[in-house]
Formats: sequence, structure tokens, C-alpha cells
Amino acid sequence: MLVFAKIKSIQENIKSLEKGTSIGFVPTMGALHKGHLSLIERAKKENDIVVVSIFVNPTQFDKKEDLINYPKTIDQDLTLLKKINCDIVFTPTADEIYSNNIKPQLFNFDGLEHQMEGRFREGHFDGVGTIVKYLFEIISPHKAYFGEKDFQQLQIIRKMVRKNHISIKIIGCPIYREEDGLAMSSRNSRLSKEHRKAAPFIYKTLKQVKNQFGTKNVLEITKWVENEFKKQPLLKLEYFEIANEETLQPIKNKDFKQNYRAFIAIFADKIRLIDNISL
Ligand code: PAF
Repeated sequence: MLVFAKIKSIQENIKSLEKGTSIGFVPTMGALHKGHLSLIERAKKENDIVVVSIFVNPTQFDKKEDLINYPKTIDQDLTLLKKINCDIVFTPTADEIYSNNIKPQLFNFDGLEHQMEGRFREGHFDGVGTIVKYLFEIISPHKAYFGEKDFQQLQIIRKMVRKNHISIKIIGCPIYREEDGLAMSSRNSRLSKEHRKAAPFIYKTLKQVKNQFGTKNVLEITKWVENEFKKQPLLKLEYFEIANEETLQPIKNKDFKQNYRAFIAIFADKIRLIDNISL
């Protein structure tokens, strides 16, 4: 496994690959868990080599505290990646990526960026767009893999690729869950014992939403979810939305020709968790 921290060195290595070598790319912010590993395994099956990046991107954090507290486990991550035979790891510093100007590029994602996460995390998707676009330019992969847990991010990256005519195939991969249903996330490691025990309630609620979607209207379901969370002292609901999968516009009425998803964000003390379910 080769590990590069410099843009020039990883680019030289990629240029030296035999012509026609297909590259699968999995961008991450580290603190790797089984969800990441499932993306990497899929990338390995579908490509000649796999590149994983580990970079906690400062421009996508709206709160300094969240950036500081984001789990960083680089030694453990590299050991894991070596064990699963990852080919190349890119571990740049913020200076390497942004030089002296840690600022995001501003994007227009045709409104996808204004909903849900975009509403509650100002500038988040400009930061994501900036880093993902730059990593795509550095690595030039054929395919890139993203988890559906960050479904809005996935749709925004698809939009960015389409709008900028970037010829990389974006692959969305199913949410990987703990046995009790909690969506895997690097942030889960920061949950207290009590909050970790309470957190599976998020997916349990989403499954019930899916059951109710055929018979109840959106307002009834939303009210029901809000009430359920009021009974959970350890989980504070930030938002719950039912939205169109393509446009991410929240809906009030159903049109059964469209595909919908329910999206949720909660705080377990200071740890913010998100999840979603296809309806
Ligand atoms: O999903 C993530 O971990 C990050 O948003 C990503 C795509 C690696 C960009 O920093």
C-alpha cells in the first residue's frame, strides 16, 4: 500500500500506472468504520486499483468545535486499509490542499444545497463541492463511491459532476448499519454509553415512517415523528423531512409516480447524527 501526502507525488504515481488501469476512488475524512470498508470492497471489485483519501476538510464544517472534535485515527485507519489491501492512500494536510487560503469555492447546485443539511449547516455543501472537485482533479478516478447515509451529499456530487461535465461515474452505496440499526458513522464513536443506547431509535422511527407512508399524509407522519422524539430525552430532533429523491424538495402531498425519502437529523447531546430511508 502506498501512502502519499503530497499532490505532486500521488499524481506522479497515478500517471505512471499502465495505460487503461481503472481507478476507483473512495474519499473519506478518516475514522474509518465498516461502512467505509464496504465502499472500498465494492471499489476493489469494480476497478483495477483503489485510492482512498483521508482528509478532514475544514471548509465543510460550519462550527469550529465540530472540526476540532471530529475523530482523527490516522494510524488505525492506515492499519485497516493495509489489511484490506487498499492500493493507494492520499493523506494531504490542509496546507497542501488550500495553501494559505482555507476558503470554499461557491457552487450553485440548482437548489439541492438549500434543503435539510444545507439549511442547518451553512456553507457545508460549498465545502464538500470544493474538496470533492479538487480530489477528482488530483486523482482522476473512473468511478467514485459515496454512502447513501449522506444522501443529499451524494445527489449534490452527482449534480456537480453533471454540471461540470466531469467524466467520473458516481456510485451510491447502501447505508451500512450496526446490528441494532444505527447507521454507521465516524461520529458514533463519540457517543456516550447512554446516547449510544438511545440512538437506534432513529432508524426504528424511520422504519415506522416507511410503514405509515402508504396510509398517512405527510403532515400526520411529521407530527407523529416530532411527538415520538419529544418522548426521547436523550435525542433532540433537528429536522425531519419527506422529500423528493431527485430534487430534494420537501413535499406536502404524495405523487406515487415520484420516489421519496425520509430524512432526519438529531442531536445526541453535542453529537449530530443523520439518517434516511427510501419510502
Ligand atoms: O462524506 C464525507 O466523509 C465527506 O463529506 C467527503 C465526501 C469525504 C468530503 O470531505
